[in-house]
Amino acid sequence: MINGKFVVMASGRGSNFQTIVDRVTDGYIPATCKALITDNPYAGAIKKAEDAGIPARVVDYHAFPDKYAYETQLIETIAGFSPDLIVLAGYMRILGDRIVDSYSDRMMNIHPSLLPAFPGLHAQQQALDYGTRIAGCTVHFVTRDMDAGPVIIQRVVPVLDDDDEDALADRILKEEHQAFPDAIRFFFYDKLVKEGRRVRILP
Ligand code: GRF
Repeated sequence: MINGKFVVMASGRGSNFQTIVDRVTDGYIPATCKALITDNPYAGAIKKAEDAGIPARVVDYHAFPDKYAYETQLIETIAGFSPDLIVLAGYMRILGDRIVDSYSDRMMNIHPSLLPAFPGLHAQQQALDYGTRIAGCTVHFVTRDMDAGPVIIQRVVPVLDDDDEDALADRILKEEHQAFPDAIRFFFYDKLVKEGRRVRILP
């Protein structure tokens, strides 16, 4: 895809967002990041967007009477940038069907576990509690079911005996910062072919 455009949605500190922006700047991702959209007026990602000269739009969940009204504004905000792809980089809300269906195969999320293991919150702690010897991250297309869409890329790390949630999360985060730019790069080079649940990556 030539002249591809994407928006990033994030709720928190934005380290994945920052990495993605850096990989656009150095040419690894052949597309333009048009905006950061956040539901959280205090998200660290906002400053990172400003520093990078990328428009930041806050659609504050708490400023709306209900989820429907919030998402109506969100849909309008996203549409204003006409993105080819929506990248969920630590966006901490479950998106409704209206949004998910309009961007089917055009929305990616990153999750800090090897899905389908440990969906939802505190995935790293879930891995520790379960006692797995490996953990990792998953980039997947977003479908109506949370953390359950077709897998694009997974990267694996060991779980060490003295790990706590923070130590494991840090090790996984380093892999997230590789996996997400790779997935976005493949998308904009038209390398991702979905066959049922499986995503084939063309050479
Ligand atoms: C990451 O661990 C991501 O997998 C999860 O939320 C965290 C976001 O971190 N969905 P950051 O805001 O990108 O630093």
